[in-house]
Amino acid sequence: MPESTNPSPLSDLDEWEDDLQRRYPESEKEPDAFRDYDAGTRPSVKEFYRLNHRYQTLKFSQEKRAEFLPLKKREMTIWEALEYLNTLVDDSDPDIELPQIEHLLQTAEAIRRDGHPRWFILTGLIHDLGKILCLYDEPQWAVVGDTFPLGCRFSEKIVFHKFFEDNPDSGVPGYATRNGIYTEGCGLDRVTMSWGHDEYLYHVVKDGLPDPALYIIRYHSFYAAHKEGEYAHLMNDHDRELFDWVRKFNLYDLYTKSSERVDVDALRPFYDELINDFLPGKLSW
Ligand SMILES: [Fe+2]
Ligand SMILES: [Fe+2]
Repeated sequence: MPESTNPSPLSDLDEWEDDLQRRYPESEKEPDAFRDYDAGTRPSVKEFYRLNHRYQTLKFSQEKRAEFLPLKKREMTIWEALEYLNTLVDDSDPDIELPQIEHLLQTAEAIRRDGHPRWFILTGLIHDLGKILCLYDEPQWAVVGDTFPLGCRFSEKIVFHKFFEDNPDSGVPGYATRNGIYTEGCGLDRVTMSWGHDEYLYHVVKDGLPDPALYIIRYHSFYAAHKEGEYAHLMNDHDRELFDWVRKFNLYDLYTKSSERVDVDALRPFYDELINDFLPGKLSW
């Protein structure tokens, strides 16, 4: 496998999420024969997963935690973070790609329309703010992508599992078993996940939101668990209970994207009040 010269092969971060929609179509009507995922995957997305699976090691994730989780990069309000995330420049056609803020508002508005609790609406608004990691010049494969536990066997249900052959952790005997460095049922809080926007944002907001919101934020990219049912042996009862919320949220995350523009100014007062109720003022990022 040749080493890539481009550390960020996606034209923008949405390309990963668009591919998730293709992998998990809303209708689920397609028979399995038509779901040859690999064959239909864009080369940029495939290359993105190759890099992600090659470089997300336990050591890498621990190093990124040590680098970012002291939260000493910036002080920003939630709304400032939304505007900061919106400065992410897309390489693709600016007319068809929605700015990040619109995906977040569309997700939140869909949750609001369905009459869900206020914390759930706020979770929709903020769940991807950890993508500001890209603005710190982190490579795409360390910001987005399906997340997975490190230090134990990589589930075969993780997309492009074959690329884990090139991950140095695959050669560590202690990591090759089902439980690896963990004990059965230890709880996900003890499990080091691959590094990305989920874990980062969780630490930024963890003192302000109820548990289900924090689970959604922390595990919304853990598709092997919430879509494929893998890694149940590392979960405890609390995890299993709260993953119902992660699954519920995923429907809004994947299937509320629309090209209808969002009137940000009109929605702002509602969201300002919501933010102020849970996560007021400047937060440490
Ligand atoms: Fe996300
Ligand atoms: Fe999202």
